[in-house]
Amino acid sequence: MTRIAFVGCGYVFDIYMRTKWAHPEIEICGVFDIDLTRSTTVANHYAVKIYQSLDLLLADTSIDFVINLTNIQSHFAVTKQALLSGRNVYSEKPFTTDLSQAKELVDLANAKGLILTGAPCNIFTDSIATLWKALKDGAIGRPVLIYAELDDNPAHLMNLEAVQSPTGAPFPVAEELQEGCTVEHIGYHLAWICSMFGPVQSFTGFSKYLVEKKISKPLHPHDTADVSIACLNLAAGVIARVTCSWVAPRNHGFRVIGDQGEIWVDNIFHDQSAVYLERFSRVSLAARKTYTLRNQPLFGSIFGIGGRRLRLVRRWKSHAVESDKGANRSWKQKFVSWLRRREIYAQDKLLGIAEAARAAKAGQPQPMPAEFLLHLNEIALLVQRSGPNGVAAVPSTSFEPISSPSGVLNHATNYSDTYSPRLTERYLTRIVDVLHRR
Ligand SMILES: NC(=O)c1ccc[n+]([C@@H]2O[C@H](COP(=O)([O-])OP(=O)(O)OC[C@H]3O[C@@H](n4cnc5c(N)ncnc54)[C@H](O)[C@@H]3O)[C@@H](O)[C@H]2O)c1
Repeated sequence: MTRIAFVGCGYVFDIYMRTKWAHPEIEICGVFDIDLTRSTTVANHYAVKIYQSLDLLLADTSIDFVINLTNIQSHFAVTKQALLSGRNVYSEKPFTTDLSQAKELVDLANAKGLILTGAPCNIFTDSIATLWKALKDGAIGRPVLIYAELDDNPAHLMNLEAVQSPTGAPFPVAEELQEGCTVEHIGYHLAWICSMFGPVQSFTGFSKYLVEKKISKPLHPHDTADVSIACLNLAAGVIARVTCSWVAPRNHGFRVIGDQGEIWVDNIFHDQSAVYLERFSRVSLAARKTYTLRNQPLFGSIFGIGGRRLRLVRRWKSHAVESDKGANRSWKQKFVSWLRRREIYAQDKLLGIAEAARAAKAGQPQPMPAEFLLHLNEIALLVQRSGPNGVAAVPSTSFEPISSPSGVLNHATNYSDTYSPRLTERYLTRIVDVLHRR
């Protein structure tokens, strides 16, 4: 059993609790929030104990991990106090918005022999497991280029001030806009990119504030960049272009292009997002030149455009996002939950804690070491703050290569061998060649 305690019971706390039913090996010792109304609400709803202060929580020596879900500006103080009390910490992202403070936390954890790890935990999902295995199988040849998007809709049109968690915590829209779309979201893409292709060796970034007055409340600062575009040069010889915004319509897509094909993941916010593999043929590449085949997926697929959807690799906690077993839920809530999981997003936010605890219990290195998250933290800050004149820089942090999650690379399916091209791709190549010459 792994015993955890939460500090911070706001909006995201409810998302962590959604998949608690799938983690019987995790026991919640209790919660603490400086807002007693929030801690009382969640304590009553989920039947967990309230600690009256952070000191009392940290004095509980039975706790294996302190889970820091406070606002970003409280991350440093809470994590530092927990580490100083001898507790392992799992922190929401980023560790802090000051790189020197983030380094201080990593040094402190190392000096005390404690675990410091955290979000995002999407390197443990079925989608990346499938992507990782397909890359290892050589399904797209040598990967060379990544296009990753994290556009989260035009915030000014989304009425975000009305959004609430299941127990009534308002979505902290002011904080999200003040910290910026990049600090808040780029970590999801960086976690995938850097875990598979190594640290960023150099980057160019651009960010800008584009749309005024996104919510009625005044913001401080009022002009945090709401779009960023970063080009990352990765250790494995791959480059990535990552875009984040609160301006463009929702697009959470992740594309890896190799010299023989492409893998495309529909939604990085979904643990079981659809993953597609297209092994390039001269037919599918030529078909893309035509307006109708490009714009009508049904016709395009006949010629191989878009490839084939891959059966996902399953992992030990895959079931966590496939069902919702919260207590006291109406049929309406169950339907909405099913719709959200099927169509919009589904994340098991306890998965990172489960993986960290599993490694600790087995005496294995942490699957998401502090140095890895520190690097993601640095890139997020550099890109968010790169400004309209752009910045080119070499990051000051790095990390040792990350292993793919256990069981992924020896999974039975070989995505290269099992891929079959369309009949048209087999039989029309000569016609395409003739048309191409003319
Ligand atoms: N909102 C999301 O969708 C989302 C998603 C992923 C990650 N996150 C991250 O999770 C963290 C929390 O986000 P949230 O949406 O729950 O914010 P929130 O504002 O809803 O909740 C934060 C809670 O922390 C409490 N708090 C602040 N300082 C504290 C302290 N020193 N001690 C104890 N409690 C303290 C606040 O009272 C509040 O209840 C942030 O780091 C955020 O980036 C949020």
